[in-house]
Amino acid sequence: MKVMAVNGSPRKRWNTALLLESALEGAASHGAETELVHLHDLDFRGCSSCFACKLKQGESYGHCAQTDDLTPVLTMVEDVDALILGSPIYFGSVTGEMRSFMERLLFPCLAYSAPPRALFPEKIHVGCIYTMNMASAEEMQTRGVAAHLAAGERTLGMIFGDCEALHSFDTLQFSDYTTVVSDLFDAAHKAQRREQEFPKDRDKAFALGARLAR
Ligand SMILES: Cc1cc2nc3c(=O)[nH]c(=O)nc-3n(C[C@H](O)[C@H](O)[C@H](O)COP(=O)(O)O)c2cc1C
Repeated sequence: MKVMAVNGSPRKRWNTALLLESALEGAASHGAETELVHLHDLDFRGCSSCFACKLKQGESYGHCAQTDDLTPVLTMVEDVDALILGSPIYFGSVTGEMRSFMERLLFPCLAYSAPPRALFPEKIHVGCIYTMNMASAEEMQTRGVAAHLAAGERTLGMIFGDCEALHSFDTLQFSDYTTVVSDLFDAAHKAQRREQEFPKDRDKAFALGARLAR
């Protein structure tokens, strides 16, 4: 059993990365071999729309033909039993790096047949972990973010088989709110969230990882 997590945050020791680590610990508790990839370490681009992955009898049919630092990561995905994507919410969506990764991962696996068909050879479990300033599922819904994320999860589910999501709300964004222009936020409230709620989110991430590895 192999479980791979992909961090779409540029920060390697902050909210998203810590939840991914917890998820991988959960997976490892069921004997999974785990790997964490930080997209920010890699030099890559989003889909270039070359369509090599869709050419009839093309040698790259069903696979991304672009070659850069993402190439070995996409190859690794073909060999995992579960995949966990983690991203902060940036302007109502996943980060640009996560978006580019998803373009490269998903587009080759989607045949333009009628109806569209998944080309990924196996069914694997997928988890999505999102961290954000928004305070609740209701706020995510009101701002139109929930529907947007759900659309991405539907595509992941269609290609890989199933997809479950975990949302971590009202995260601590800076270590010291007094040094940042941030009147929008209540520093004491953020500190309290970090101390009381974030550990619960880490437990949920651990449980998610354990479920995916089972
Ligand atoms: C460029 C940028 C845009 C952001 N946009 C949003 C947003 O639209 N909605 C939101 O709730 N939080 C937003 N945030 C806050 C982050 O989603 C939040 O702090 C997240 O937990 C950061 O993840 P990290 O600690 O793993 O880097 C934004 C942060 C940055 C840096």
